[in-house]
Amino acid sequence: MIFAAILAGGIGSRMGGTDTPKQFLTLGDKPVIIHTIEKFVINSKFDKILVLSPQSFVNHTKNLIKEYFGENDNIIVLKGGDTRNDTLINSIEYIKENFEIDDDTVIVTHDSVRPFVTHRIIEDNINAAKEFGACDTVVPATDTIVESVDSKIISDIPIRDNFYQGQTPQSFKINKLSELINSLSDEETNILTDACKIFVLKGEDVHLVKGEITNIKITYPYDLKLANTILKETNHD
Ligand code: CTP
Repeated sequence: MIFAAILAGGIGSRMGGTDTPKQFLTLGDKPVIIHTIEKFVINSKFDKILVLSPQSFVNHTKNLIKEYFGENDNIIVLKGGDTRNDTLINSIEYIKENFEIDDDTVIVTHDSVRPFVTHRIIEDNINAAKEFGACDTVVPATDTIVESVDSKIISDIPIRDNFYQGQTPQSFKINKLSELINSLSDEETNILTDACKIFVLKGEDVHLVKGEITNIKITYPYDLKLANTILKETNHD
């Protein structure tokens, strides 16, 4: 089986200015989250698409999904958690409680606020997760990375060719991901906020999938402006 988990449990504090989390703001002619879900709905490989939103927006999310996709048993709305990782864990627990999964069952996890993920990126994620067990979507770093441990003086300028910027999806074999999460100490759980980092620190390989510079994450108000420009200049709609 193949699951998608659209992580929409955040409140978008860096967006500011509105009580509506950024995933529900309008991009072009519909909410950001609908653009994102569409990219998964058109891929017939997904058995179920989980959408995890803040508890107080669960009903709103269900209503939106009904409006844009009709009655659709393949899309399941759940409540997210306090942190992005808690939201991811909610999705894993729901899957384990409600479905018969095996060691090859895959979960493709994606930020609800990356509406320009492409069919190619999703396909590459599914294939890499099946073959390698874990993958992360990345683009090569374009700016020089400057490290400063004390925020005053440069401690290192690493070789840029070795650096990438992480996007999503991040995809995994669920049983392996769940096993690694359960093996974390309380201290590790607090530090390891990225699922791929859990794999890396536990000595497991994470395969790289090529992302796209247009696969932006809407974080600040400027990003929503940029997203509107990307929408107009490409055929993403
Ligand atoms: N996310 C989530 N559950 C949380 C926090 C974040 O599912 N408890 C999701 C967000 O909804 C978003 C993605 O993770 O789709 C990326 O997170 P980020 O951009 O940091 O979102 P927010 O936490 O909403 O933003 P901010 O940090 O500005 O508050």
